[in-house]
Amino acid sequence: MARAKDHHDGWGSKLGIVLAVAGSAVGLGNFLRFPVQAAQNGGGAFMIPYFVALLLLGIPLSIVEWTIGRYGGQRGHNTAAGAFTELWHWRGAKYLGLFGVFGPWIIYLYYIYIESWTLAFSYFSLSGLYQTATNETAMSGFLQAFQGLAPNSTFPNIGTAYFFFLVTFALNLIVLAGGIQKGIEFVSKVFLPMLFLLAILLVVQIFWLGMPGASNPGWNQLVWQGLGYLWNPDLSRLGDSRVWLAAAGQILFTLSVGIGAIVTYASYLKKDDDVTLSSLSAVGMNEFAEVILGGCLVIPAAFAFFGPAQMAAIAKGGAFNLGFVTMPLVLQQLPWPHLFGFTWFFLLFLAGITSSISLGQPVVAFFQNVWGWRRGKAVLVFGALSFLLSQPAIFWLGRGVVDEMDFWGGTVCLVLFGALEMILFAWVFGMRRGWAEIHHGADVRLHPIFKFVIQYVTPAYLLWLLGFWLYDNAKTTISMAAVAPENRPYVLLTRWMMVGLFVALAVGMRTMLRRRRRIHELEAR
Ligand code: PHE
Repeated sequence: MARAKDHHDGWGSKLGIVLAVAGSAVGLGNFLRFPVQAAQNGGGAFMIPYFVALLLLGIPLSIVEWTIGRYGGQRGHNTAAGAFTELWHWRGAKYLGLFGVFGPWIIYLYYIYIESWTLAFSYFSLSGLYQTATNETAMSGFLQAFQGLAPNSTFPNIGTAYFFFLVTFALNLIVLAGGIQKGIEFVSKVFLPMLFLLAILLVVQIFWLGMPGASNPGWNQLVWQGLGYLWNPDLSRLGDSRVWLAAAGQILFTLSVGIGAIVTYASYLKKDDDVTLSSLSAVGMNEFAEVILGGCLVIPAAFAFFGPAQMAAIAKGGAFNLGFVTMPLVLQQLPWPHLFGFTWFFLLFLAGITSSISLGQPVVAFFQNVWGWRRGKAVLVFGALSFLLSQPAIFWLGRGVVDEMDFWGGTVCLVLFGALEMILFAWVFGMRRGWAEIHHGADVRLHPIFKFVIQYVTPAYLLWLLGFWLYDNAKTTISMAAVAPENRPYVLLTRWMMVGLFVALAVGMRTMLRRRRRIHELEAR
């Protein structure tokens, strides 16, 4: 496997990488995906499988990814494709590791589009553009006009959406072009604290300052009842394996594990840098942002505004509706609606961009490592290809393209790659070496029980998830039985696009490595 050229690129400080990994973890998943998953899967009862998954999947995967990343980085590899060849000296290992480049890329392709909506809505709030929409129908019309799903001459159209997509797209590339320290670390250090501040401000406003009495009299009690709506456990749901599947999926997605993003970030660590305390700190920050802040925003606010009767329907409407229809309506009731609307959407944008750059960096690093390009060129090629490949998500949003990419990239890939890396680490590399590698330079020692968890429990858990999915719904999913017939061609095309991308990456990697090996051999003569 080829080695990195820009070898000096690395983190400036320990705080820097912890904030960058936390920045990757804290994303749209915390504020939009989590509350909806919890509300739909048994409320408080969801938190039982959620915390079980945090302990048995999230934390072990996090520690192992940091460790694999640092280990590979020391040997010149900045992606899982390279790192895997160091864990397993088999020629095929790099193709398994390729999922740690492909997966993030697929997520990136739709994630930045949704991220761009948050930037657009930040602007809409400040300028008061959606203020004329004062009920659900109107606000949902606003969103759909903007998405190009239901054009409406009084609202911004898909052209506006496209403009904000371009801006978001460019911003991401600028950060990536800045490199690890001057791009990613800098942005994470500034944006992450800002995002926390905005989220806390909003929570305080919603819970303690609330509505000025007249506009919504029962608000203060209702918002607390909204917490009850989210957290009252429906224990009967615990017997449903889908609830366990959903909780595990949420943990992987929110912690950015099982995808290769952290392997890449950790590859820029130095040899003796700590991984245990750092990884746990990043996990801790994400959980605070998710369970405390994420849990206190959309659901309680929606509950207080719409009341218990409508809540179930709203939660079923999904994350986009809650975030982009319900929240703007609620926030319009607050004093200074422009400012609070902006606070909400801009905090989402900050959360989004610190995550999307971590999805882009593995691909950029892959081009640098395998093609031997400089960072600028790698970012440029990554940008050009991503631009092309993200168009279906924009123009065929209503055709189920985003759902399809989210399913394969944001769900299946996480479990698949997570299982691969755990097995490689604990069984092929070996748990004795693995345990020592984890504790090399460590600021805290893990309880020995984690050795058992990493070796047996986490891999078994991931394999069970994979197996359960195969058994329960692989057939329906693959045959597109649940997809409306008129959307099937689009979904199928998206699938071929993904398969094509993986094959292209694999063939490209193979060709480049062979060519470089040949040059190497010639030079050695
Ligand atoms: N963790 C991010 C979120 O919660 C999404 C993400 C997944 C980012 C995987 C990087 C890798 O939104």
